[in-house]
Amino acid sequence: MGSLLSISDIKDDVKYILDLAIKIKAGDVEERPLEGKTLAMIFQKSSTRTRVSFDVGMYQLGGRAIFLSSNDLQMGRGEPISDTAKVLSRFVDGIMIRAIKHSDVEELAKYSDVPVINGLTDLEHPCQVLADMLTIKEHLGDWEGRKICFVGDGNNVSNSLLLIAPLLGMDMSLACPKGYEPCESILKTALEYAEEFNTEITITDDIGVALENVDAVFTDVWVSMGDEVEKAQREIDFAPFQVNKDLMSIANDDAIFLHCLPAVRGQEVTADVIDGPQSVIYDEAENRMHAQKAILYYYLK
Ligand code: CP
Ligand code: NVA
Repeated sequence: MGSLLSISDIKDDVKYILDLAIKIKAGDVEERPLEGKTLAMIFQKSSTRTRVSFDVGMYQLGGRAIFLSSNDLQMGRGEPISDTAKVLSRFVDGIMIRAIKHSDVEELAKYSDVPVINGLTDLEHPCQVLADMLTIKEHLGDWEGRKICFVGDGNNVSNSLLLIAPLLGMDMSLACPKGYEPCESILKTALEYAEEFNTEITITDDIGVALENVDAVFTDVWVSMGDEVEKAQREIDFAPFQVNKDLMSIANDDAIFLHCLPAVRGQEVTADVIDGPQSVIYDEAENRMHAQKAILYYYLK
């Protein structure tokens, strides 16, 4: 069955998983499909949404989840990732991990006999963008022909958005300061998908251009977990990229605003936008659980 480390891992099944999420949210699947199954959840970084939505999601599907802080695991004291993977595989049916380094998640998956789900790394946040796509479907009706814009850091969330947008027939623009562009390997793959699915990807530092004809505006924190030492410089570099009412007025009139959360009001987004009528952030957060229940069903059933 494999693992979900990147949106690329579900290239051919993204729509299937999203349809499954819609069915699960509507209560249109069997009761307790994951009865007797256990998910291990390893966290090397803080979390509110990912931790609670996976835990409650497993419970609602009839299974259970075990929270494992990396500080408490022997892995945190230097036990090899390979041994951790092999041992956990003897106990549980799946492993969700939020890790500092994407390469550690790749190593975990390499040695694991059960599916590994990426709950955020420095490179990608696939669970987040599946929830985002579910939210877009609910608020905009469909994906095909729509255009999304991410304003901010070319980092984990925007990387996964760049990969998923073309797979669903959407154009995407990314407005970021110079020096904060997405990594080359992600961009290369995203551009290949865009060519294959006949969509457009634009990377620019011109926010006005990026926001033209946009149906959904995304942003994320300027200082991601692990980037704290760069905080002062990032606050200077990202200041012109704050999503405020003036910027939102460039997008289409009925454009929605999304943010993975947690947010810093007054930095990447003003309170009047994130708490205003175009914002769908709480639906988006709720959809983490529905999208992840579909992921769990897909990988663990
Ligand atoms: N969006 C997101 O992943 O939230 P948490 O960091 O709270 O899990
Ligand atoms: N880019 C943010 C996302 C948090 C959910 C971070 O990595 O901290």
